[in-house]
Formats: sequence, C-alpha cells, structure tokens
Amino acid sequence: MHLSSLTPTFQKPQSPLFGSGPTKKFPGWTFDHLRDTLVSRSHRSVIGIDRLHQIIQLTREILEIPDSHQIAILAGSATGAMETALWSLLGSRDTDIFAWDVFGKLWIVDAVQQLKISSTRVFEAEFGELPDFTQYHPNNDVIFTWNGTTAGVCVPNLDWIPEHRQGLTICDATSSAFALPLDWAKLDATAFSWQKGLGGEAGHGMLVLSPRALDQLQSYTPSWPIPRLFRLANNQQVLTGLFAGKTINTPSMLCVEDCIAALKWAKNLGQKGLTKRTFANFSVLEKWLDHHSYLTYLSCDKANTSPTSVCFKIKDDAALKNQETIIIQQVCQQLADLNIACDIKNHMFAPPSFRIWCGPTVESSDLELLIPWIDWAVDSAFSNS
Ligand SMILES: Cc1ncc(COP(=O)(O)O)c(C=O)c1O
Repeated sequence: MHLSSLTPTFQKPQSPLFGSGPTKKFPGWTFDHLRDTLVSRSHRSVIGIDRLHQIIQLTREILEIPDSHQIAILAGSATGAMETALWSLLGSRDTDIFAWDVFGKLWIVDAVQQLKISSTRVFEAEFGELPDFTQYHPNNDVIFTWNGTTAGVCVPNLDWIPEHRQGLTICDATSSAFALPLDWAKLDATAFSWQKGLGGEAGHGMLVLSPRALDQLQSYTPSWPIPRLFRLANNQQVLTGLFAGKTINTPSMLCVEDCIAALKWAKNLGQKGLTKRTFANFSVLEKWLDHHSYLTYLSCDKANTSPTSVCFKIKDDAALKNQETIIIQQVCQQLADLNIACDIKNHMFAPPSFRIWCGPTVESSDLELLIPWIDWAVDSAFSNS
C-alpha cells in the first residue's frame, strides 16, 4: 500500500526541527540575520574583536553571570570547552566524576585514561538514573553534567555542592545553558556551546571560570602537556585577552554573527523568559507522556526528568517491546520522510528511545501538533510488526 493513502490529515508542525543539537533556530530567524557578517575580515581587527566581545557581554547579561567570573570563546564546541577545563584545571586534587549519559561518561575517559589521574572516584549511573551525589567530597575536584542530553535526566539542584569548598566544580552545561538557570555560586568551570539552548551554529565553545578557577590557573601547572588550543594560561599567567574576545585561533565570523542574532533574541526574553519557554514546551509533552499507555520517560524519577531533552521509550511491559529498536527506527524515519519531525531518535549509544528537544527556540504549538503524529506513527509501526 502507498504511504500517502494511509497518512492522516492532521495539521503539521510549522517546523519539523525537534533535534537536540544543533537545535532549531530562534523564532523569526532568517539568513538576513547574517547580512552584516564580517566576511573575509580578521577576527583580530578592532571590529572583529568587538563582535566576539559582544558575544561575551550578551552571554553574561542573559545568563546572569557575576562580574567576578570570566568568559572565553574557544574552539571545538562544548567538547573543546570542556576538555580545555579538564586539561587546565585537574590534577592537583583527588577527583570525583558523576556520569549518567553518553557525554558524562566520555569525561571519565579524559580523566582516567587520558590524564591518568590516579586518585579518581567514578560514580556512574545507568541511563535513566542519577548517581549518588552524597558521595561527593568538597575537598575534591568534581566533574558532572547538568543535563544528560542522551538520558533525559537532569540534576534537580546543586544542593549537594557547598558554597565553601576546596575543590573545583567542572560542569558540562551543554544542554542546560540558556534553557535552564545555572547556579553560578556552585560552578567553577562551566562549558557549553552555541548550538543547543540558542540554536546557533556549531563549532565554538564557551567556558565560564569562577575566581577560584582563575586562581588555580595562576597557582598550578599540570604535569601533562597542554595543547595550545586548550591553553588558558602561560607559565601561570592567565591569558587575559581570551576573556575579552581575543580567541586562541580563528573563529567563523558567520557563526559569530549568527550567535549574536540568537543572543539578541534571547536577551529580550532574559533567563526567566527562556526558562519559561522551556518549561512550557516540556509541559506539552508531560501532559501526553504522564498518562501514555505504551510510552514512558527514559528517566526513572520524575523529579530528575530533563525538561530540555525529553527522552522516552516504549514501556517495558508493552507489546512488541522486543522489537523496540526497529519500531523506533521506523517511526523516526517515517516522521522525517513526511517532514513532521527530524532527528528525534536518541543518540546511538543511548538505549533505544526517542528524544525531543524542548529548549526555548522550539514553539509549544509545534509540540502540540507533533503529538498526534507520533501516536499515529507508533500505532502504525505496532500494527505492522
Ligand atoms: C551533555 C553534552 N555534552 C557535550 C556534548 C558535545 O557537544 P559538542 O558537539 O558541542 O562538542 C553534547 C552534545 O550533544 C552534550 O549533549
């Protein structure tokens, strides 16, 4: 039978872009926003540095980052920013790592296998669960992810981190920055990118450093070589230009322009407005998933369920659970072919599941329109299996 003869006539979402990174661009974005890009101009020209500095300033204002903290634009997206922090700050203390999704688990490789920090304690949880944060020792450095994008599990708060501590807290905030408020008093090194909460272009990372992280750069030199791309200090002298927009290497001025446009959109909403949009989006899916007969969150505890990257699976007791990989693949393919939802299959290293981005650039009305299509596609896949 031809697909179109079976396809319902539900209204389609205005945008099919529900992927978790790169995420949908902000409402109203067009290529016109790139018109004033400094094409073929040096990022080190006065006007070039000014553009990069604007990103730092706007990021500070929107995320309400205290003046005491410094913000750098780095190469290599969130991974580049995170590895810059790990390579530059770790090694002087014991280290605790808390990991519960694909990316959090990758930072274990950096600390244990690459940097070979002998005194590392690893607290890992299965997908859907959070590790036991009561194990954290404030004398230690700690690495954790605010929102496990591939697990759909998010830290509910940072109550487990005291404001006064010896160790540094290194946080991968890739899928929480701009979507959720971050608790700066508890964060010493925070990494994120432009293509998640902001829907910006990929390739560049941001790193926010607290005064204590900056002190560490001035008082400690790691025993391992630090690649130039990760270098925040030379001979314990902080490279202060970095925090004024003088990047280590050449950024894309097209991406910079796009980021400025997204930041200006975000500034009008402020962190409160961005968070409100995220939760409004999440509540659309919540109303649907809380009572679904055969779909449920990957997250085991509602209190830790991510409102930004909503991961859900076929319930363990549902019919055809043993065919979930095929069913999920079919549903995602069908919705992409119909241009209703792109990139909603969860990461290849996560358990078979769907993942829908609910960050602030997504429209709630589109999520409302998406739901009946998913139900239809899953029902069809069940009945064809
Ligand atoms: C939690 C988390 N950390 C790190 C990354 C890697 O980000 P990037 O590709 O920007 O380096 C991702 C990407 O999805 C992520 O979700």
